Formats: sequence, structure tokens, C-alpha cells
Amino acid sequence: MKKAGVIIAAALGALLLFKIFGPSGEVCPFVVPASQGPAQSAAAPGVKEDGLALTPPMGWYPWNTFGEEPQNEKLIGEIVDALVASGLKEAGYSYVGPDEGICFSRGQGGRLTTNLERYPSGLRGLGDAIHKKGLKYALYTDAGTRTCSTAMPGTKDHEFEDMRQFCEWRADYIKIDWCNTEGQDIVKTYTTLHDAQLAAGRPVVHSLCSWGEGYPWRWAGKVGHLWRTTADICAPGQADWPRAMRVAFANEKLAAFAGAGRWNDPDMMITGMPGISDTQGRSLFSLWCLMAAPLIAGNDLRVMSETTVKTLTNLEAIAVDQDPLGIQGKVVWTDGIVSLWAEKPLFDGSRAVLVFNQGRHEVKKRIEWSEIGLGSSDACYVQDLWTHETTGPLTGGADVGVAPEDIAFLRVSPKNDFPLPPIIVADSYLISLRSEGRTPQKLDGTLTITNRGSAELPLWRVAEGLPSWLSVSVSRNRKSQVFRNTVSTAGLKKGLYHAVVRADNTEPVSGRPMSALYYDVDLEVTQDVSSVGRSAATWQRASHSRTS
Ligand code: GLA
Repeated sequence: MKKAGVIIAAALGALLLFKIFGPSGEVCPFVVPASQGPAQSAAAPGVKEDGLALTPPMGWYPWNTFGEEPQNEKLIGEIVDALVASGLKEAGYSYVGPDEGICFSRGQGGRLTTNLERYPSGLRGLGDAIHKKGLKYALYTDAGTRTCSTAMPGTKDHEFEDMRQFCEWRADYIKIDWCNTEGQDIVKTYTTLHDAQLAAGRPVVHSLCSWGEGYPWRWAGKVGHLWRTTADICAPGQADWPRAMRVAFANEKLAAFAGAGRWNDPDMMITGMPGISDTQGRSLFSLWCLMAAPLIAGNDLRVMSETTVKTLTNLEAIAVDQDPLGIQGKVVWTDGIVSLWAEKPLFDGSRAVLVFNQGRHEVKKRIEWSEIGLGSSDACYVQDLWTHETTGPLTGGADVGVAPEDIAFLRVSPKNDFPLPPIIVADSYLISLRSEGRTPQKLDGTLTITNRGSAELPLWRVAEGLPSWLSVSVSRNRKSQVFRNTVSTAGLKKGLYHAVVRADNTEPVSGRPMSALYYDVDLEVTQDVSSVGRSAATWQRASHSRTS
């Protein structure tokens, strides 16, 4: 199987970042049909070439609230609807899907199969529904023999076929747990899974979940995009504030290892879970943003209070997390109760800073500019990221009052201007087109990408190597850009065709590359189509003879 994977990776070549499927009718065949041009032979994209997760992934995962039960298609559908309706999608949350509750099993020939009782549309159907909402599909597996609950098979000795199956289900993100891995070498195992992903050909975010075992921050940036740094933040349904604080303070010590495309993951957030106060939820969210942590909500999105929604969708805080420089902030000093978190320069030259009060009484503290990398005589403006008020210019520093368990979360800048970096929202990540009849047709499907940041983005650049039946153009419509996908069916055989389109962009203020955008285009051709259409003159003659 491994050998097959390597051959496949080589054969995918020319497409570099596109995979073209069809017309065999198979969902995910790995051979480019001769009718679509020769297979070319460069290596498949590496984790760093995939352009994925250049800012920390944002999304929702079920475990904190639901554990294994009752995850199913209905629940995930309701969560997806709530994610959209609550405004979380508009704030940048995009990765969503089941965890242990996927409940696939290993069927005949070793292939993973959907549990149709839980997921009647199939795991591919669930992915398509998520993509059509403009969200990304997250799935879960384990690097050992079984997942942590032992309810599902792990990938051990099935790495290549499982990654291929996840590709067929069109996953965009896979969390890979580390249970039941006795005797396995952690670096080798996750490297094999990375190679298997490359062989499968679909660019997928790999979220490594060894809870810090094997010191993933030292090596996992090469084979994945994020890695858990600690034990679980809570048991399902049992949010635990002291435990969450231990997680936060362990994670901040690893700041030096994080960067664009390689993130320390202190686990899903507990903001909005029962047992967590609004103040605690807001403090935790702020700490995660300052640490450039993945923002994976873990609460039940269907029953959020207004305050929880406001917290999770605060774009000024999210801007710190999603800053294009990708620097993780950390503790600069602590007296055991009050701590100053900084060392988080942002893309426009401003700095994020946070004072956290873990005590029982309100405290007053002074932040000296010299403590946060600014000059002691600098005059700076201060943006409070929760009240959204600006003060200044203040010379030398600022005084803040912080209530118990609360934070002061600020952005400090010599300019009275606090731009937001790009936050990308899609209306869909799936274009589905269908052609009927033998006459060549041109079919169109559009997809709109909106930037919720402040500067206008350059036009997205569509990567080369599209299949001959597809062309994509991008045009601007104020803060959105419209991707027009035009399909020409001339000469296509009956069958299913598929392409993954990649587009790249650059953040206009810092000039940093942005996370690559990927979406799927499906084409169903119901009959063999002739290769030559009637020319315009022929059409005119035909319509003239009908009317005369
Ligand atoms: C581990 C992970 C959790 C969750 C469960 C599922 O404990 O750390 O986040 O995925 O497994 O069993």
C-alpha cells in the first residue's frame, strides 16, 4: 500500500495542487484520465507547500460538550446551522465535523465505512453539506490500533488507505489522536501519516493530538499544522476552570515553537460551557487569542447566550489571533496572581498585550511601554479590545484596572489606527455542475469570498494546472471577490469529474502570504459529448431556417 501511495504521489505531478478525477464514476480515482492530458511527475505538495493554516485554524469540535454521544448527522447539521446563524461563520470559524462520534468501522478489504445509521447521507454527503454552507469539513482518527474510546479503528497499518478514504470523504482537517499506540515511534508514525496524506493528494490540515507526549513542538511542524501541548482541557460536559488555567500556562511556555502554519494547540475552548462564567469565558478566549492558539469552540452552539456569542465573535480579539505574523504571545511577568502577557507584535507595527488577574480582588497595574517592546518615551494609542474604546496618546505606559478572573486585553500603537487583518468567509466551498445531452455546453458556477478585515485584498491568484474542462476567473465586488468557474463539456465522456481549485493571496498591509484557499468543483456528464460544437454561423443558419 505504501508503495502504491508513492507511485500515486509521483503521478499526480503536473497538477501540483490540483487533483483531477473522473470520468470513471468513482468518487476519488487517483489516475488522471488520458483524455485530460498526460499525468505529470512532480512531487505532491508538502505540508509547507500546501499553504494551509498560515493563521491558526478556527472552528468547532464536539468532544468538550458531547463526548462520543450523541454525535450524528442531525447534531452536526444543527451545529452547522447554529454556527452560521449565530455569526460565528462571519467571524472566521470554518472547520466543523464529528469527533469520536463519526463511528466508522473497517469494512471488507480494510476500507473505512460510514455508519449509515448515524450518518444516513454518508460521510461524503455530510462533507458536501458542510462545504455548501461555506464551511470546511473536519474529521477525526487515531494513530494507533483504536481511537481513545476504542469505538473506532485507528490508522495503524492502514495509514495510506485511511488517508485516501478521508480524501474521498473530502475532509479538509483531520485530528489524529495518540491512543492505543503502544510500541509505536511517535515521529515515525505521524510522518507516515503525513506521507499518506501527500499520497492521497488532497491538502488537509493535520491536527496532532498526543497531549504533549513526544514533545511534538520540536518536530511536528514538518508533518502537521498544529499539535496539542497538554492533556484534555476538560472531560466531556465538565468544564474545569483551574484545569484550563494549567493548560494555558503550560502552553504559553512553548511560544518559541509556534509560527505561521505550525501552532501550539491548548485544546478546544470551554467558553460558553456550563460552569464557566462570562468573565472566565472572555478571559480564556483572550488568552487563546494572545497565544495565537487555534480557536476551536467546544460549547454547544445551539444554546449560546448573547454574551458567549459576543465573546466568540469579537473581531478585534480574533484579529490578534489571526495576525499574519503568526507570533505566539507569552507571559512577560507574573506575581502568581496577576500576569502580564505580551511579546505579540502585530502586522501593522502595533502590539497586543494582556493583563490577567487570577485573584479575588480587583487590581490596578501599570503597563510600561518598555515591557512590551516599545520605547519608554513613546506616545501610543491604546485600543481596549473588549470595550472597543481608544485612549491616548499616552507616554511611557498605561494604567489598567482588572476585576477578579478578568483580563485587560489591549492593542498598543504609535498610530491611532487599528486595522483588522483578513478574515475570510466563503459562501460555499463546493461547485456542483451537471451537463445533459451530447452537444457541448458551457456551464457556470460562482463562489464568493468575502474579506472581513479592513484592507482590500489583491485579487486571488488561481494556481495553474486546472483540467482542460475547467477555467476560473476572479473579479472584485467591493470587499468580496467572485470566482467564476466555467466548465466546457466539449469532448467529455460520460462520468463524474472533480477538481480541487487552489487560490493564493497576500495580506496587503504586511505583504505576508495568506492561507491558501481550496474548493471542490464537481461535474457530472450524463452522456458522451461530441468534441465539436456547432459554430456560431451554424447556429444562426439553424435558427434562421426555423423562423423562415
Ligand atoms: C482524546 C482527545 C480529545 C478527544 C478524545 C476522543 O482524549 O484529546 O480531544 O478527541 O480523545 O476520544
